[in-house]
Amino acid sequence: MTVSLTDARSTELYARALQRLPGGVNSPVRAMRAIGRDPVFVERGKGAELFDVDGNRYVDYVCSWGPLIHGHAHPEVIAAVIAAAEGGTSFGAPTPAEVDLADEVSRRMTSVEMLRMTSSGTEATMSALRLARAVTGREKVLKFAGAYHGHVDGLLAEGGSGLATAAIPASPGVPVAATAATVIVAWNDAAAVLKATEEHELAAIIAEPYAANMGLMPPAEGFLELLRERATETGALLIFDEVITGFRVACGGAQELTGVLPDLTVMGKVIGGGLPAAAYGGPRELMERIAPAGDVYQAGTLSGNPLAVAAGLATLRLLDDGAYACLAGRTESLAHGLREAAADLPVQIVWAPGLLTVFFSEAPVTDYAGAQACDLEAFGTWCRHLLARGVYAPPSQFEAWFPSLAHEPEHIERTVEAAAAAFREAF
Ligand SMILES: Cc1ncc(COP(=O)(O)O)c(C=O)c1O
Repeated sequence: MTVSLTDARSTELYARALQRLPGGVNSPVRAMRAIGRDPVFVERGKGAELFDVDGNRYVDYVCSWGPLIHGHAHPEVIAAVIAAAEGGTSFGAPTPAEVDLADEVSRRMTSVEMLRMTSSGTEATMSALRLARAVTGREKVLKFAGAYHGHVDGLLAEGGSGLATAAIPASPGVPVAATAATVIVAWNDAAAVLKATEEHELAAIIAEPYAANMGLMPPAEGFLELLRERATETGALLIFDEVITGFRVACGGAQELTGVLPDLTVMGKVIGGGLPAAAYGGPRELMERIAPAGDVYQAGTLSGNPLAVAAGLATLRLLDDGAYACLAGRTESLAHGLREAAADLPVQIVWAPGLLTVFFSEAPVTDYAGAQACDLEAFGTWCRHLLARGVYAPPSQFEAWFPSLAHEPEHIERTVEAAAAAFREAF
């Protein structure tokens, strides 16, 4: 594979960006500091590939951190956005397509009878928590160490994703009172869940059903069932944050894959098809507490934005059973290829349909402590060498790869070849 290693234009843009944007970026993980390099500036994307401003070409496994399940610039998604834009970009009034999108979601996720759209996953988790607190009359929320639910004050404690990447345990600026109501438990630790749910009167248990912000960590057998059971027994609401897993690991998200149904679901990423959209939803009796049907206030100038709704609808409508079978098959062959490339090196390759992580660890990784104990230096070296060989992987051990339906066998082959060479540099 030929990739030019020139980065003159990226370097110049980064120097300018550092003068105007904190850390030179608009979201922390993009900076690539964890793998010891500067960011590449993107010019465009097409299908499974990214092209940077210096003319380098990469197989992209970030795919905007999850929304682009069909890859970049899918013609049907782009056509839907253009058609919507021609009719006006925002009205601040209801549009027919919002109702179509809500129908489409509800058809896929049977636990979501009604939903409210927001512009980001952060807003959606924040609002789902507000609703859970209003419904239960309680304040405390149980979250898992290493889970990331957006930059909501109370949920930043021991957050995964960018916080884990930058080794920030919690952010300054978060009021003590906001985190005092957060109970943190290790992922996959059944005994700790039992103890915490006995000790605290919880408004909600919030979980990514397949944790994906400390690297990909599927739930241990029976773990989600335990969360369901303890929430029901103690009167707490179970919230599944399916911002990553929703419409990705299966048509109906992780709740379809596992058969465990939450009370409330948070959605994001794929639901907006690459434009800013997210949502939270659940049964009518809960969702009708939201204003103006009920008394729990939540609003948004651009919520249900016509362009985002058009992109989301076009994206979802392309996702039929064949698409999910294809995505699962492609992810599996990527996982097998990477395992072969790693041979007997001490790495763990974990995958679920449309998600994958290579943990630099001798032992299986099942919780945040395990992810933190990975060989982060070797990971960084591997990732830098992948990039130099034309594979743009998430530049952090604490993130999942996002293979898309645009990742053809040829892209996977290129990836595996680059990975084998990068492994030789890392160990
Ligand atoms: C599981 C999960 N929840 C919530 C969020 C926050 O979404 P957003 O970045 O759209 O605010 C993210 C973002 O990556 C996420 O992965």
